[in-house]
Amino acid sequence: MGIYSKGTSNQYNDKKKILIAYHSGSGSTRTICEVLKEKLSIDFNVELHSVCSFDKSLLPKFDFIIIGFPTYHCQPSKSIMEFVDSLSPLETAKNAVVLATYGLYSGNSIRILAKELLKKNIFAVNYLGIRGPASDGVLMAPSWLSFMFNYEKSCLTKIEYTVDMVKKFIKAKPLQANVKIPSYKWYVPLNNILRFFGERSYENLKESISVDAHRCKNCGLCIKSCDRQCWSNNETEGKSPIKTTPSFNCQNCEFCLRCIHICPYRGIKFNDKMIEMPRLNKKFYDDLKKRLLK
Ligand SMILES: Cc1cc2nc3c(=O)[nH]c(=O)nc-3n(C[C@H](O)[C@H](O)[C@H](O)COP(=O)(O)O)c2cc1C
Repeated sequence: MGIYSKGTSNQYNDKKKILIAYHSGSGSTRTICEVLKEKLSIDFNVELHSVCSFDKSLLPKFDFIIIGFPTYHCQPSKSIMEFVDSLSPLETAKNAVVLATYGLYSGNSIRILAKELLKKNIFAVNYLGIRGPASDGVLMAPSWLSFMFNYEKSCLTKIEYTVDMVKKFIKAKPLQANVKIPSYKWYVPLNNILRFFGERSYENLKESISVDAHRCKNCGLCIKSCDRQCWSNNETEGKSPIKTTPSFNCQNCEFCLRCIHICPYRGIKFNDKMIEMPRLNKKFYDDLKKRLLK
């Protein structure tokens, strides 16, 4: 028994280390990253971290990196860009896979991120884009658009393929020759026009985010779960603090919509029309994950 235990523990220590670093608003990207973690953990020692709380100094200890992020306005999310920007170029280059989720169309987001990673000596040897639940669309579009509530059919095949790619490249020396970056999409000028209008209207919606005082139960989930510290408590100091609804400061908000999806009481809105729209909450993603893993 003793010998057996020693053997397994050594085996575990010998396993290559993979970092899955992600940003996720409503939970779509996180869910895909969790599935990847389950699949990869059979052969590797895998750590899953949100880039918003990850200690960057630990990066060199990993043998391989997977970077996951959502597409917002045909760009990588602000949080993932800020994370990559903040990295110092690695002394020893590492291989990586770039993973983008999107609701309809990811534009050049993978290309943008893969190029930024290259500046940090992180070599994207493969990439994947997965169409999934549209965290913005479900709050505005009619609910019969069922594709907005699911991952694309080939999602699992793409994940399995990624696992194979990781297995192939985890032992390979990082070489510029192996870097794989999607080519620039020619229709991007059209894309930029849409982005211009999209960003403007979302900017207005962001400024309209507020709490519905009749629904809010002061559970504090919005405050706790916001990566960008946009929510705060208005509690007054003193012997008998008066609790008021949380207040929102849109300055640092990237409109990831997590607070809106996560609120158990539908207490956060950007207009009255969306109050009864479906929410992509933890249960929603847990169910999708179960289906992907069965
Ligand atoms: C502000 C915002 C902008 C978005 N822009 C796009 C877009 O340009 N193209 C697209 O296909 N999906 C877009 N989406 C949908 C998200 O990319 C998609 O739902 C993603 O999987 C969400 O991942 P997350 O839950 O991890 O944040 C957008 C979502 C939000 C909230």
